[in-house]
Amino acid sequence: MVKHLIDFNDISIDRWQKIHKLAVDIKKHPENYSDKCKGKILATLFYEPSTRTMLSFQTAMLRLGGTVIGFDNPSNSSVAKGESLKDTISIVSSYVDLIVMRHPLEGAAMAASMFSSKPVINAGDGGHLHPTQTLTDLTTIMLEKNKLTGLNIGFCGDLKNGRTVHSLLKAFLRYEGNKFYFISTKKLNIPEYLLNKLKETNNEFVFASSLDECISELDVLYMTRIQRERFDSEKEYLKQKGVFILDGDKLKKAKDDLIILHPLPRVDEIDIEVDDDIRAKYFQQAENGVYVRMALIMTLLNEKTKEINYKFEEEKFECSNPKCITNTEKYLKTVVDENQTGYCKYCNHKLY
Ligand code: NCD
Repeated sequence: MVKHLIDFNDISIDRWQKIHKLAVDIKKHPENYSDKCKGKILATLFYEPSTRTMLSFQTAMLRLGGTVIGFDNPSNSSVAKGESLKDTISIVSSYVDLIVMRHPLEGAAMAASMFSSKPVINAGDGGHLHPTQTLTDLTTIMLEKNKLTGLNIGFCGDLKNGRTVHSLLKAFLRYEGNKFYFISTKKLNIPEYLLNKLKETNNEFVFASSLDECISELDVLYMTRIQRERFDSEKEYLKQKGVFILDGDKLKKAKDDLIILHPLPRVDEIDIEVDDDIRAKYFQQAENGVYVRMALIMTLLNEKTKEINYKFEEEKFECSNPKCITNTEKYLKTVVDENQTGYCKYCNHKLY
């Protein structure tokens, strides 16, 4: 098991299944786990707002008998004085046993892991990845459907900027026989690097411009909000807002055993009347997030882990993605990605 969790696919399927089983057992018998991390300290470093992810990590650690330190607003930390990510992480990792970090720039968690003596968990790096939401989503799908293959899965909303979508889809690339429906506008569709990867797998995918077109075929519908903070202007955001709204009327065409997921927070993309529909599973999904994070913390703290050994390039590259961490933290070295040459290893954008 690698030491950090930056990308869900860092964990083998076998390891994931163990974490999943542990999470399910914690959900059934939480009392058996109340002192599993006694004496351990978790740091939650949130450079970007969060409700569920930060509070569920803190709850998870407290329920395991550990303690928590951290910040949820970088302007209250030395970041406001201009401290580099490298320095913050080197220091904090010498204080605690585990770091959970959220950052607005893509690749930030990977960069942090290079300077941390303790495991780093990526709690969201810009519009890039969000692996612990993926753990939560997969556990919820398993609990509801008992399988991760042979499913018709719709992703709806902001598929360009939604990191939870990117992470979950990447995880599904390891399975076969699913069909994906990307329900979005042209502007907010799934990134090219993920489509390229999808083409290499034994999974089908189609694009849809409305929920009506495909809702009757779906087993899983993963709704997302339009990610306002990732747009260059408010005007651009307003053009995309409110295009996809799931309501009781649209659900009339859906299967009886559809499950509706959403990483939350919701803005207006799911009408509140849907909350009372038996197919709405997003609140259970959020609750599962605590058990899954308890299982992950226990696994990273109690099991033997090893460093990820990156190979560095001699020459420094310039990533053309302005939201990539390498454009802000200039000391970061170029990493060779043997599986995907021509792409930035930190943020996965095309290099040239
Ligand atoms: C998501 C996130 O932060 O990416 N929320 C979460 O962690 N549950 C989704 C979102 O913000 O839209």
